[in-house]
Amino acid sequence: MKVFYFTTTGNSLYVAKRIGGELYSIPHMIKEGKHEFEDDVIGFIFPCYVFGLPKLVKDFVKKTKFKANYFFAVMTYGHKAESGLYHMEKVGGEAGIKFSYTNEILMVDNYLPAFKIEDELKKEGSKKIEEKLNKIINDISTRQNKYIRKSIKSVILSKSFSSLAGRFSYNFGRNNFIVLDNCTSCKVCEKVCPVNNISISKKPEFSNKCEMCHACIHHCPQNAIHLKNEKSKVRFINRNVKLKEIIDANNQK
Ligand SMILES: Cc1cc2nc3c(=O)[nH]c(=O)nc-3n(C[C@H](O)[C@H](O)[C@H](O)COP(=O)(O)O)c2cc1C
Repeated sequence: MKVFYFTTTGNSLYVAKRIGGELYSIPHMIKEGKHEFEDDVIGFIFPCYVFGLPKLVKDFVKKTKFKANYFFAVMTYGHKAESGLYHMEKVGGEAGIKFSYTNEILMVDNYLPAFKIEDELKKEGSKKIEEKLNKIINDISTRQNKYIRKSIKSVILSKSFSSLAGRFSYNFGRNNFIVLDNCTSCKVCEKVCPVNNISISKKPEFSNKCEMCHACIHHCPQNAIHLKNEKSKVRFINRNVKLKEIIDANNQK
């Protein structure tokens, strides 16, 4: 079983580790230019971005040839995924993938412009993450055929929000960041950036291909990187994942 994942704060990586198989970081596959994969089972695990898919997940799936007998997709999200998985089915369909199983799992929301991480952490217990994850693991290991299906209203909402996000938000990155003077030029931000958008001379400098994933902000050891419109200064990393694993997954240098 091959499992392709994208993560910034570890939720999707934790799910991927629990599901198991051979894990492949999508940013690494893009960097290495690997675009053909075959196995009995192939899965994708990624976060919901603006009711849709992260752009790099979409681009990778579109450009790649996959061959398997059983395809699955699991989307992690923090509040409302709406029809995010619909986008995966659509993009997968264009790449010749017919999913046997799709599911979503509610975890801690890492989206700083909308939520305070301290409040999100308080809600973590009530999300019953382990219960839901065990069910997903069992479904996949017993090769269940099931799909998440939402209302037409939800599909329309997802389509319009994620196309707006695609058009605007990815270009906002560079002007949205504030770097404080306590930055030590440690380069962690550079190493966790999945699209090689950061370079360091004295302080991080941001180029114009930001995915708005917030990895640089969440993982800064000095808490020196901030969003102009963030709701809190508290940062998040999934308790079952270490910074080194995020660097290993995303480092493009
Ligand atoms: C740019 C961005 C957009 C997001 N959009 C949504 C969303 O539309 N719905 C939602 O429920 N969560 C949203 N989230 C929260 C993440 O999907 C959620 O926290 C996810 O589990 C993070 O996974 P990761 O730790 O593997 O990166 C968003 C997060 C980011 C950074």
